Amino acid sequence: MDATRTYIGEIARRVGERVTVRGWLHRRRSSGRIHFLTVRDGTGFVQVVLSKAAVGDDTFAQADHLGQETSLIVEGTVREDARAPGGYEIDGTGLEVVGASHDYPITPKEHGVDYLLDRRHLWIRSRRQQAILRVRHEVIDAIRDFFNGRGFILADTPIFTPAACEGTSTLFPVPYFDDRTAFLTQSGQLYNEANAMALGRVYCFGPTFRAEKSKTRRHLTEFWMVEPEMAYATLDDAIDLAEALVIAIVSRVLEARREELGVLERDTAPLERVQAPFPRISYDEAAEMLRKRGRPFEWGGDFGGPDETALAESFDRPVAVHRFPSSTKAFYMKPDPERAELSLSVDVLAPEGYGEIVGGGQRLDDYDLLLERIAAHDLPREAFEWYLDLRRYGTVPHAGFGMGVERVVAWLCGLEHVRETIPYPRMLYRLTP
Ligand code: 4AD
Ligand code: MG
Repeated sequence: MDATRTYIGEIARRVGERVTVRGWLHRRRSSGRIHFLTVRDGTGFVQVVLSKAAVGDDTFAQADHLGQETSLIVEGTVREDARAPGGYEIDGTGLEVVGASHDYPITPKEHGVDYLLDRRHLWIRSRRQQAILRVRHEVIDAIRDFFNGRGFILADTPIFTPAACEGTSTLFPVPYFDDRTAFLTQSGQLYNEANAMALGRVYCFGPTFRAEKSKTRRHLTEFWMVEPEMAYATLDDAIDLAEALVIAIVSRVLEARREELGVLERDTAPLERVQAPFPRISYDEAAEMLRKRGRPFEWGGDFGGPDETALAESFDRPVAVHRFPSSTKAFYMKPDPERAELSLSVDVLAPEGYGEIVGGGQRLDDYDLLLERIAAHDLPREAFEWYLDLRRYGTVPHAGFGMGVERVVAWLCGLEHVRETIPYPRMLYRLTP
């Protein structure tokens, strides 16, 4: 064959050339003497026009029986066609079936979400799911570029950990050899703090685990979190960094993934408004706003999902809420020197009801107070001796945060639920496929 192998995503550069495309049959329509095959190869979708005259009787008859998701190699000439979806078509001259597919379980008709989740390994082949996963890829790539471009060092933190970071109620225990129990990490933060004392500005980026018994549209039991940590930094530095990161991600996705956002029918106008500066309000102000909106909110509590949605409605871009009561936050939060009952913490809430996408703040850098907090939270001191060392040997003010990839992708794609933002979601009632 003298045809050039091409990917559908590059077809615009191949107009007039003879090419082969290797992919799968997405859809087939036939009208007597012509088959219209929509072929996908992971980089895009293209319509292949197969006429009896061009391919001969045998190949044409073979195409009569191709089922959805048959893997195949088509050969043909690329033609620009303004009426074709995507702007190009292939006039087919040859067809080779690689692997048959009969009775593919996901058809163009509507299926329930449980049915689809049970077949997630196939569902990801659909146009929408591919678009979401491509946006996810772009978000992750934008995050890496953001930190690498600013001199942060990627320092990986362990997944097997001996103790809790974010509270003992959401730990997944794992038998660890003969007599020990390890826990899947809830956050790399504590190790990140040690890494920051070594390398200055660091980040970790990996899967984290929460045994969340909640069945909400924002929670997974396994999710990906990026966590930067900076030595010699304050709460304000962490907020500035979170703002810059969110803006970098949104503008990158708007620039590089317009087509995918189009497939998802995402209204991009609210995303275009994600510009600096983000409003910054204190927890006190947020509580007051909720009361004014008639929500039954008691000072001292954490915000629930509907509270976050109500707060975000007052702003046209993400909002940073800072200085939560210490009682709502983890043991490592530094108290506000001006009001000891508050912590130097921040949550960034996404617009349009997507809730908290970033959580972080300034860390407790004082040895005695940290020791008190570990005791007050009933945490085993032995497990935190190494962490206390960071306050024994050259402690400095430091700050950082965690951002959940799935919540950001759900927001950017305008999805109902985070379960579609990761190839294989893990939730309270779902461990398969
Ligand atoms: O607010 P969280 O619990 O903060 C921490 O874990 C800190 N130790 C991070 C740090 O300061 N280094 O989680 C951070 C973010 C949330 O804002 C949210 O985006 C995401 O992680 N997240 C979840 N995403 C999906 N499912 C869950 N169950 C999540 N829990 C948190
Ligand atoms: Mg949080």
